[in-house]
Amino acid sequence: MIKKLNQAFAIKDKVEFIAAENHQVAIKIKTAWSWAVIYLQGAHLTSFERVNDGDFQELIWLSPLAHYQANKAIRGGIPICWPWFGKKLDAPDLAQHGFARSSLFDVKQVNEMSDGKIQLILELKNTKESEVIWPFQFKLEVIFTLGEELSIELKTTNTGDKDFSFSEAIHSYFKVDDIHQTELKGLAGAQYFDQLSQATQQQNGVLIFDQEIDQIYQTANQNNFQSLLIKQQNNQKNNINVSQKNANSTVVWNPWITKAQQMSDFPDDGFLEMLCVEAANTGDGIFLKKDQSHSLSQLVCAPQFYPSV
Ligand code: BG6
Repeated sequence: MIKKLNQAFAIKDKVEFIAAENHQVAIKIKTAWSWAVIYLQGAHLTSFERVNDGDFQELIWLSPLAHYQANKAIRGGIPICWPWFGKKLDAPDLAQHGFARSSLFDVKQVNEMSDGKIQLILELKNTKESEVIWPFQFKLEVIFTLGEELSIELKTTNTGDKDFSFSEAIHSYFKVDDIHQTELKGLAGAQYFDQLSQATQQQNGVLIFDQEIDQIYQTANQNNFQSLLIKQQNNQKNNINVSQKNANSTVVWNPWITKAQQMSDFPDDGFLEMLCVEAANTGDGIFLKKDQSHSLSQLVCAPQFYPSV
């Protein structure tokens, strides 16, 4: 399989398919500005490093205890939650965050663009198995564009005759130097649903982190665009800009001490160096009729090259 993929899609010194952890297939991509690793299972990005004057800045947190098993999502990186986010309300026994993150995607395209960026399109379509869990015909394309910044687009198309609704998230785990010295800017004034207390509240100022957090912010605005900054007080050169398009929510999650200890694939002290900031369409989500499509995207970059919020 790896040989065939390389014959069809490899680009010398830039794109290569490799045998990764536990014999899974991953794609290594190098551009002039960044290096990335993306697994075919789950269309799951596990690393995005910015190259800067010979230095590398890893922007994404990956658990050193992640399981790389068939049908199980990798802990850390950027899982794709689809076609539902969280528990499926009418079927709470089904896997949290949907089946895309544990499904094997097909490679559709690898393009080297005229500006030096590399675009990779991975695709998932309905199968007999998916129709047992979710009885719709669909095409889900995950479009990665890699360059100075990392862009991830989830494009959902209804390829069948039946209308459907879905929810989704680009569940990015960002790497922070020290969660106690980290702030998240850009959500002041937004309403949020606290999944821990089950209360709806309004965000006052920047977010700081000193306990477990699991909050869904309502961030849809007129332009359907939201810009955020993960600010690292002790080391601002590691700040991360995150923006999102066509998302009705931003989810902010850190499991903190007790939940970290309860997860077998998460180190006990891992919560100190990660923060999930997820671009999502939660609640009723998105409604698509036959042949309609919807795209959600998240853009990530190291802000020394871009204005911050
Ligand atoms: C977040 C949810 O998006 O994902 C949390 O808001 C959840 O409630 C977290 O705990 C991790 O989920 P999972 O299924 O990957 O352990």
